[in-house]
Amino acid sequence: MIIAVDGPTASGKGTIAKALAAHFGLPHLDTGLLYRAVGRQVVLNGGNPDDPADALAACAFPESLLGEAILRSEETGGLASKVSVHPQVRQALFERQRAFATQAGGAVLDGRDIGTVIAPEAKVKLFITASVEARAKRRFLEMQARGETVTLNAIAQDLEARDLRDRNRTQAPLIPARDAYLIDTSALGKDDAIQAAIEVVEAAQ
Ligand code: DC
Repeated sequence: MIIAVDGPTASGKGTIAKALAAHFGLPHLDTGLLYRAVGRQVVLNGGNPDDPADALAACAFPESLLGEAILRSEETGGLASKVSVHPQVRQALFERQRAFATQAGGAVLDGRDIGTVIAPEAKVKLFITASVEARAKRRFLEMQARGETVTLNAIAQDLEARDLRDRNRTQAPLIPARDAYLIDTSALGKDDAIQAAIEVVEAAQ
């Protein structure tokens, strides 16, 4: 069984995907991490994330990069969003995601285009949304807990810029698959959001 979990930044899709994987005993791939590694590698190479050739060269990042904490930063998220607009980059990361999705026994993948491009045959497709306000507040609290000095306003602006880029790129834009099940987590706590997702998957089995 393939479970596709798509949605914008800080919608709760990562948390939901992880919980689904644990609940159903499936392996999980956070595909955003791959784009984050490419974004980070561009900087390490001294390249420009908006340049397609620099971004493509950065797809040869070392595996060890995936374990680095800096990949989780807002700055790297912004770089990931930039490199992800290049079709060459999406192509270079396709096989790895596709192989993970189609492994025997099934898998849970979260990202932006899992239900539309990577695994359109997925048994269950979830599209996780939440208002900009709710997402900014969540991200703010997470960053505050890590001791980072940020303002709610700056986070909201950054989220909107990233949403805009992710939704408007020509290849594999962030849009729900036609057969995706929408879950709005704006007013849901973590446990309720996870429960709602588990119920959708169970109903589809
Ligand atoms: O989910 P995330 O915040 O880690 O993703 C970072 C960026 O990577 C996101 O802004 C767009 C890009 N991305 C993508 O284009 N396709 C995916 N399947 C996952 C992420």
